Amino acid sequence: MGERGDGTYTGTAKALHWLVFALLIVQFAIAWTMPHIGRNTPLTALISLHFSVGVLIFLVIIIRLAWRMTHPEPRPEEGVPPWQTTSARIIHWLLYLLLLALPVLGWINASWRGMSVSFFGLFVMPKIVATRGAGWGWTGDVHALLATYVLLPLVGLHVAAALYHRFVRRDRVMQRMLPGM
Ligand code: HEM
Ligand code: HEM
Repeated sequence: MGERGDGTYTGTAKALHWLVFALLIVQFAIAWTMPHIGRNTPLTALISLHFSVGVLIFLVIIIRLAWRMTHPEPRPEEGVPPWQTTSARIIHWLLYLLLLALPVLGWINASWRGMSVSFFGLFVMPKIVATRGAGWGWTGDVHALLATYVLLPLVGLHVAAALYHRFVRRDRVMQRMLPGM
């Protein structure tokens, strides 16, 4: 795949990156505020909002990946050791993978619980597994555990790496993703 020559991401890639960042803050705030979902939990407005925002993140990630496939990353920043470029790529693709897998697991689990998944009241997502269908009960736990114990630590590492480039190495890696750079 080719590389962008000017050493920064496209405006669209930056906008989508920061949109996902903002949506994830909202999504975790909702997830940690909403009632814990058990067998007899009613579908409250906050739970429904968690579903809508989650589906929105899913749609944005699909658009983002389509953009990524057609607009390669900028050429590696001068002087950055190859192991850092490689580990950055691995973390980026793990983040994409998680942001696809999490909404799907949540969607399966909502279907399994018999909860309808509406997108902000505009349309209803299809039910993808039977209510209490055998074999799908684990999806809720895995969804919640992946979000809290895998996605969040990876984002922490990613942000720490960006700050390390900005304030320790003082190179231009952070600027690659900042608006107006
Ligand atoms: C990237 C998007 C998403 C993130 C980061 C996320 C995050 C979370 C987190 C952290 C929890 C645990 C809440 C707690 O501690 O009680 C949770 C629970 C849950 N989420 Fe999501 N979620 C996302 C998308 C979705 C979507 C799209 C749906 C459904 C369409 C969904 C359905 C659920 C359900 C049903 C639970 C309860 C699972 C259980 O405890 O059995 N989530 N989510
Ligand atoms: C304060 C928060 C954040 C900062 C400072 C930040 C910074 C950056 C920077 C500087 C890059 C470019 C790296 C490079 O050129 O090698 C980048 C790329 C990326 N970031 Fe973040 N980021 C943040 C939050 C997030 C979050 C929350 C996610 C998603 C969970 C995320 C996912 C990604 C992905 C997937 C890429 C790769 C882009 C591509 O090449 O397709 N970032 N980020």
